[in-house]
Amino acid sequence: MRHQGPAATGAEGRRNAAAAADRQPGDSAADDIARVAAALVDDRSNAVSGFDYVGGELFAEDVPLTAIADSFGTPCYVYSRALLTAAYRTYDSAFDDIPHLVCYAMKANPTLAILDLFARLGSGFDIVSGGELARVLAAGGDPGKVVFSGVGKSDAEMEAALAARILCFNVESASELDHLAAVATRMGMRAPISFRVNPDVDPLTHPYIATGLRDSKFGVALADAHTLYRRAAQMPSISIRGIDMHIGSQITELAPYREAASRMLALVDALAADGIALDHVDLGGGLGIRYRDEVPVTLADYATMVRALFAGRHERLLFEPGRRLVGAAGVLLTRVRVVKTGAVRSFAVVDAAMNDLLRPSLYDAWHAADPVTPRRGDAARHFDIVGPICESGDFLALDRQLAIEEGDLLAIRTAGAYAMAMSSNYNARPRACEVLVDGSSPHLIRRRESVDELYAHERRLPS
Ligand code: LLP
Repeated sequence: MRHQGPAATGAEGRRNAAAAADRQPGDSAADDIARVAAALVDDRSNAVSGFDYVGGELFAEDVPLTAIADSFGTPCYVYSRALLTAAYRTYDSAFDDIPHLVCYAMKANPTLAILDLFARLGSGFDIVSGGELARVLAAGGDPGKVVFSGVGKSDAEMEAALAARILCFNVESASELDHLAAVATRMGMRAPISFRVNPDVDPLTHPYIATGLRDSKFGVALADAHTLYRRAAQMPSISIRGIDMHIGSQITELAPYREAASRMLALVDALAADGIALDHVDLGGGLGIRYRDEVPVTLADYATMVRALFAGRHERLLFEPGRRLVGAAGVLLTRVRVVKTGAVRSFAVVDAAMNDLLRPSLYDAWHAADPVTPRRGDAARHFDIVGPICESGDFLALDRQLAIEEGDLLAIRTAGAYAMAMSSNYNARPRACEVLVDGSSPHLIRRRESVDELYAHERRLPS
C-alpha cells in the first residue's frame, strides 16, 4: 500500500465514497460511508482534496499525475470521482430532512461521464439549451428531473424539452411565456413552468457573473411577476409549478441569498392568497468555492438559513449548483514548454492556454499553479504562467513564485468548473483530453481532438 498514515485514511474514504455512489439511496450502510466521505471534504476551505502530494509527487486519488501525463499527454483535465461524489453528497445530504431536488447546473462541466456520475447519484440537471438536454439524455439523466433556464430558448428547444417531458421551464420573460404556450398548444401538451424572478439583490461577486440585479438581462422583475403568474394561470397550455431565482455565481456571503429568497417568498405568499399555489421553490445555484483565500459559505450554514426561511412551508426545494459540485474536483495538467527570461519578468510558456482555461483572462480569476514534482532546494523565481496563444491576455497564472524548468508538469488547480466547459479552438488548437480518476484507475472520458477534426465541418470555396 503506497499511502501511509492520514493519506491512507483519505484515499480509502474517497474510494468508499465512489463505491457508495454505485449503491442505491436508502442503503443505510452506503449512506453512512458517503457521509463520512463527505466529511473528508472540508466544506469551508476545500483544503482536503483528491489531489494530494505523496512522496514529493502530486497524485489524483491513487494515480500520479506524471503517469497520467505520460499515458494521455498534456494539456489534460483530470478529475477525481471521489471528490465529485463527496461534493454532491455534501450538498444533497444537507437537506436530507426536507423534500428537495439538486439539479446540477451542467454548464459548469457538461462532459458525459460527469453527468453520468451525477445521474447515478440521483441528481437532476439545470440546462440552458437543447444541446444540454441532448447531453443529459445521452448520459442517462432523468428528464423528469430537468429544469430549463435561459433567456433565449428557441421554439425547437422548447419542443424538444416538452417532448422529453422535463420537470419545469424556468420562464424568463413575458415573450417566452407566449412562445412556450404556443408551442405547447401546437403539441397538444401543457408546459410546466416557473418564473425566474429577479429579486434585485447584489450578490457581491464579479460583475460578469452577477445575475440578480435590476439591470441584468435575467428573469422577470419581481414587481411584474404577479401579473405574469395571473396571465399564465389563464393559459390552458401552461401549468404553473413553481418559482425560481439565481442571483449570481461564486457568492461567498449568505446575506444576498437571504434577502433574495425572502423577497421571493413574499411573492409566493401573495400568489397563494390569490389562489395560485406553487409546488416548488428553486433557489438557484451560486455558492462559491475557495480558489485562493476566499471563505466560502458552508453547506451547513446555507442549509440552516434555508431551513429558517422555509420553516412551516410546504413547497419542495430545488437547487441548481454548478461550481460547488465540480470546481474543486478537477485540475488542468500542463507541461512547461519554454522558460523565458524577459527584461522585466520571467515567463513559463506552458502547453495549455486561454483556449483551454479562459477564466484568468476573462475574469482575472486566480487559480493555484502547483508543480507536480516540486524541485527541492532549487531557488524559486517569479513567473508568469502563459500559454502559446498570440494574445497578451493569454495567461493562466501571474506572478507566481516557482522553481520550474522546461519539461516540468504543472497542475492548475480548482479547474473542474467553467474550465473545459468554456474551452475553444482559438489558434486552431485541439481541445484537451479529460481523464476521470477512480481510485487507482484513470478513465479517459474524452479523448483529445485531432487537428483535422477542427475543420471537418468546413468547405473550401467552389472552384
Ligand atoms: N443556475 C443558473 C440559471 C445559472 O445561470 C448558473 C450559472 C447556475 C445555476 C450555476 O451557478 P454556480 O452554482 O455554478 O455558481 N463562467 C463563470 C460562471 C458563470 C455562471 C453562469 N451561470 C465562471 O467561470 O466563473
